Amino acid sequence: MKSASQRLVVVSNRLPVALVKDENGWQVKQGSGGLVTAMAPVLKNRGGVWIGWSGAPADADPADGPDADMDRLFDDFTDEAGYELCTVPLTQAEVDGYYFGFSNEIIWPLFHDLQSRCRFHPRYWRSYLDVNFKFAEAVARRSTPDDYIWIQDYHLMHQAFFLKSMGVRRNTGFFLHIPFPPPDIFMKLPWRAKLIQALTEFDLVGFQTVQDRRNFVSSLHRLMPEAKVEGRGAVVTVNMGNRSFRAGAFPISIDFAQFSKMAAQPDVLQKAAELKEALRHRQIILGVDRLDYTKGIPERIRSIQTLLRRYPDLHGKVNFIQIAVPSREEVDEYKELRTEIEQLVGRVNGEFSIPGWVPVHYHYRNLPHDELVGYYAAADVGLVTPLRDGMNLVAKEYCACNNKGDGVLVLSEFAGAAAQLQRHAYLVNPYDMEGIAKALHRALHWEPEERKIHMAKLREQIRRNNIFRWVDSFLRAGIAKSLVDFPEMET
Ligand code: ADP
Ligand code: G6P
Repeated sequence: MKSASQRLVVVSNRLPVALVKDENGWQVKQGSGGLVTAMAPVLKNRGGVWIGWSGAPADADPADGPDADMDRLFDDFTDEAGYELCTVPLTQAEVDGYYFGFSNEIIWPLFHDLQSRCRFHPRYWRSYLDVNFKFAEAVARRSTPDDYIWIQDYHLMHQAFFLKSMGVRRNTGFFLHIPFPPPDIFMKLPWRAKLIQALTEFDLVGFQTVQDRRNFVSSLHRLMPEAKVEGRGAVVTVNMGNRSFRAGAFPISIDFAQFSKMAAQPDVLQKAAELKEALRHRQIILGVDRLDYTKGIPERIRSIQTLLRRYPDLHGKVNFIQIAVPSREEVDEYKELRTEIEQLVGRVNGEFSIPGWVPVHYHYRNLPHDELVGYYAAADVGLVTPLRDGMNLVAKEYCACNNKGDGVLVLSEFAGAAAQLQRHAYLVNPYDMEGIAKALHRALHWEPEERKIHMAKLREQIRRNNIFRWVDSFLRAGIAKSLVDFPEMET
């Protein structure tokens, strides 16, 4: 039985929609990235409150800013979505220091093992703390002691710490969508002790993989030797002397049924057929990512170049389609990456194109859901090669949309998804261009029966461990039992 008073309160930097300005003024646009893809069906399914930033600075020029229309735009969304949105206004200075600075110039690269990209400015740290305090105030105002407070991702690691310091008692869970780095990397963070201590203030801390949880525990042991781990398995208890908390691995997933159903719809099948037709029924290798330096897109394009150099028999017989959704466009490194990718695409096409065949197709835009699913359904090979990734939902979406069951997933061994999918995906090292080229060549020549066996296993694993199971396993471990929907799953 669900308690009427216990609500799920999700807190993340991003809401499922963001305010974006275009030539027609401020618009509400679908948010992008794995966090939003995963959490949106959860709240739609069970209701609750989602607290986050609107995506626009609150101190924009009033004549120009979104303030006047914002409430109306979000109210319209709430009526339709079936859960409440609550915004935390941030100034431009806060967005710069806490979001672009600490979150995206320090934690994002460091936690993806790319420490040379970090800029450890102390002012970013101060801004991170200020904004976390502001979020905690909003959580305190908008929730009751009965609610379950579920904090999402690296932007908000100080929530439990500040709630406690304000004397606000709540049951809190934290889920990290990105990897937790090995201790030798984590220890480079100048504020490592404060950050790890803040994480110990949650009642439950969740990671994508057992390896991430181990990395966290190793850093914790170095920085807080009094911490004692009890238990084994996916969720352990960490005893800190006067208090304890739980830490666990909860691999995130997708709404499998929704993706698979969409891929079976006639208009989507039509889109997939038109794409095949336009490419003269050549085999399609597909890459889909936010345009981010962790995704290994330049390395992937170079692998395609290696593939075409090594195997001239594939000329005119295969297309590589890379779809990249714009992300963090204000940041120089992301601008440079975009230019690098465009130049590489030009170079490979310049080297191999012949009349009637251009090997690489590149789209830099956010696609509507049905169009994206059409691409997934048409692709013969899903090529997912991040240099490092918390999970990577694209890998799971590709399999869910492959209703015919004849696709091949080529997957980076450094994606969190590899821990679950390694037995039936083709695992590759994203830095090894020759290795990827060889894997692709084999995948393209795989017997249909073999493809079907492996794809069926991949689909079954993702279907079973879908996003709703993920939510339940987290809430069960977080002792938010009245919010749990399913009986405990056997594994
Ligand atoms: P990340 O969270 O780092 O962005 P994921 O692979 O986990 O990586 O999630 C990416 C999400 O963004 C997926 O749900 C995918 O469907 C979506 N996405 C990626 N590219 C596009 C695009 N061009 N248009 C629309 N959605 C996209
Ligand atoms: C990843 C992160 C999310 C983030 C998303 C998009 O999925 O784990 O927390 O929201 O990327 O990035 P952005 O900076 O636009 O929010």
